[in-house]
Amino acid sequence: MNATDMGGDLQQVLITQEQIERRLDEMAAQIDADYEGRDLLLVGVLKGAVYVMADLSRRLRRSVPMDWMAVSSYGSGTKSSGVVRILKDLDADITGRDVLIVEDIIDSGLTLSWLMGNLGSRGANSVETATLLRKPEAVRVEVDVKYVGFDIPTEFVVGYGLDYAENYRNLPFIGTLSPSVYES
Ligand code: XMP
Ligand code: MG
Repeated sequence: MNATDMGGDLQQVLITQEQIERRLDEMAAQIDADYEGRDLLLVGVLKGAVYVMADLSRRLRRSVPMDWMAVSSYGSGTKSSGVVRILKDLDADITGRDVLIVEDIIDSGLTLSWLMGNLGSRGANSVETATLLRKPEAVRVEVDVKYVGFDIPTEFVVGYGLDYAENYRNLPFIGTLSPSVYES
């Protein structure tokens, strides 16, 4: 699938599939090295992280368990408030385990900050985060993201798990939408 197949919906391809794949190779190699000999559990945040989880986990040179959470941030419109509700909790007990949260994007960082605190309070040995994308707003919240794929500008992006009204998640690249999509 390319930008042309999207009709007029797409404004610009921001990060190509090849760029994503190369960066995931590097991130996986780093995670393999950092977690050598440790009891790693990947925790994906639904739904956006599905693609990152699939492609990152398959690059690890080890068998690794994975679990999923779904959270929703209270707030009006598109801005997250940092008050988070768990829609689907973990199946696993994370006591004593090294947890790596897998995210698609960190925007304000408020959701992640809450999530790291929440998982930490359950007795995990460590809680770190790997995200494909990070927006500049994230620096305003004291949240330490260990693995970042790409720092991107403050623009609404879709693809590779990210949606606009549940569409565009399956694009194999990251792109921006034409204003006409929002207006219609
Ligand atoms: P925080 O708490 O970091 O929330 O502000 C991050 C969540 O906001 C959503 N988000 C986006 N979703 N394109 C999207 O499709 C974007 O550009 C975007 N920016 C933020 C997303 O749900 C993420 O988990
Ligand atoms: Mg998300």
